[in-house]
Amino acid sequence: MSTETAIVVDIIAGARPNFMKIAPIIKALEARRTQGSRLRYRLVHTGQHYDARMSGDFFAQLGIPAPDVNLESGSGTQAEQTAAIMVRYEKLLLESQSRLCLVVGDVTSTMACAIAAQKLGIPVAHVEAGIRSGDWTMPEEINRMVTDAITNWYFTTSETASENLRRLGVDDQRIFFVGNTMIDTLLANFERLRPPQFRNELGLTRGSYFVVTLHRPSNVDGVASFERLLKAIGEGTHGLPVVFPVHPRTAKTLENVPGLPPTIHLVEPQPYLEFNWLVKNAKAVITDSGGITEETTVMGVPCMTLRDTTERPETVTVGTNEILGTDPAALSAALGRLFAGQWKNGGIPEKWDGRTGERIAEALENILCR
Ligand code: UD1
Repeated sequence: MSTETAIVVDIIAGARPNFMKIAPIIKALEARRTQGSRLRYRLVHTGQHYDARMSGDFFAQLGIPAPDVNLESGSGTQAEQTAAIMVRYEKLLLESQSRLCLVVGDVTSTMACAIAAQKLGIPVAHVEAGIRSGDWTMPEEINRMVTDAITNWYFTTSETASENLRRLGVDDQRIFFVGNTMIDTLLANFERLRPPQFRNELGLTRGSYFVVTLHRPSNVDGVASFERLLKAIGEGTHGLPVVFPVHPRTAKTLENVPGLPPTIHLVEPQPYLEFNWLVKNAKAVITDSGGITEETTVMGVPCMTLRDTTERPETVTVGTNEILGTDPAALSAALGRLFAGQWKNGGIPEKWDGRTGERIAEALENILCR
């Protein structure tokens, strides 16, 4: 197949939760290429996350090829980041157009690239489209809404997400319920999960410790409320070790939190294989992330979400997740139920089966190459 006939899709990745979502799509496109497909991709890293721990480690562990382009947009306020990514991606497109801009998830890079592409008349495909928390205080919700408003092709993780899009007036023919690429990555790497070096030092054995991740402003930006939450975690976990990989944003507040409970162990952000080993073997996970609630659901690990809403309701209705809000009292009660052996056993949502990347590649082929 000559390169003249190649059809190039931009795959956009900007921040940590994007990387595990693009890996299976890249793999599926490469598999199609060996079978004679004209589809090609250009991997564009926006540079929103730039530390090895937030970015490079994930590329290495998940076998994602080095980006073809790095826009090196870096940190800043929401508007600064959005603007920097838009300006740089627009420049790239003006120099060298692609046929489609494929964005994943809900980070600032997702929205910024979708806007830049669509304004140049380049169609947009959105993976993980249609999910909604209804909480406009989260930048991710704004990013989802704006992106979906200007998307041409919607790839969804659930029927609920597809239904949300239909209610917004999106034509059924543009919606593809394909499943969850993040789960493709988890299943593909399940046998490779490996313990972090500190496992023995902290005495982490199966079901005998907790994992905590917190980085939402509502939980970590106020020193006093964050301290109360950490105290509730320390008391409610009854002396078991609590492993807390600390996101850079959270680290800033933690510097000012005086009395950390002694069983809470702060560690660096973990690479993919180590983080998911920690989750798989934990007694439970306490988090304010969205993606982690999907991984705990598939691994059958109890998950306590310290938010008022979720954009991923199937992790609650089908999976092991519960939405507790941000009041420490609710967390204490939930930990009580866990220790009493009263946590629910979850199931696995439809099409979270490890084949989503292939479904997306097939749909792209039908959309672009026929
Ligand atoms: C972003 C995503 C969020 C995702 C999270 C996971 C948006 C709106 N939010 O939030 O959905 O759950 O990533 O990590 O896109 N920083 C570093 N090194 C890095 C990256 C960031 O030190 O490699 C620092 C920044 O300087 C900043 C803070 O971390 O102070 C926040 O980074 P930013 O990318 O703005 O947003 P996140 O909170 O990471």
